[in-house]
Amino acid sequence: MHPASHLDQLPVLISSEEIAARVNELATAIEADYAGRPLTLVGVLKGAFVLLADLVRRLNIPLWIDFIEASSYGDGAQSSGAVKLIRDVSHDPAGRHVLMVEDIVDTGLTMNYLFELFRARGALSVEAASLLVRHGGARLQRPLRYSGFDLESEAFVVGYGMDYRGYFRNLPHIARLDRPADYDAM
Ligand code: PRP
Repeated sequence: MHPASHLDQLPVLISSEEIAARVNELATAIEADYAGRPLTLVGVLKGAFVLLADLVRRLNIPLWIDFIEASSYGDGAQSSGAVKLIRDVSHDPAGRHVLMVEDIVDTGLTMNYLFELFRARGALSVEAASLLVRHGGARLQRPLRYSGFDLESEAFVVGYGMDYRGYFRNLPHIARLDRPADYDAM
């Protein structure tokens, strides 16, 4: 049997119950902060689609939803620092308060790039929410407004939108993938 034939056999790092409770807390804070302001939530594809779906159903305020996709380039171990826009938003962010939604902030390169992009396009404000933040987002050029859980290790994590080679996004919790190479043949 292939090791990934049952996805839920991976070690659970954060349960779906823990995630739901934290998403509720983030939603409460976001709702209070953005009441009465023109808000656009921008999901950073692909990983953010699960958090975005859970988050918006907890937000009882008017908002728009949009998506963007970016990719950071590197040689694998070391990122080059260059970020490329793959898919752009469809709403003009000018005059809107933009809240980016991410599954994970890792090196912070993607967030740094997107912060600048939306600021340059005339957004009234640009903030971000990420379910996971590795090492406190040490390389972020500005602090993250809404952070779900800190990740203080180099562990490879999957689930709740996050993938390895495109798989595992459908796990309802966040799991640790200790030996990613075992899954290369999926
Ligand atoms: C992940 C995640 C962020 C980015 C964070 O996306 O969703 O967008 O990496 O990394 P950084 O902080 O080092 O820039 P990924 O490139 O895996 O694409 P995906 O969401 O489509 O899986």
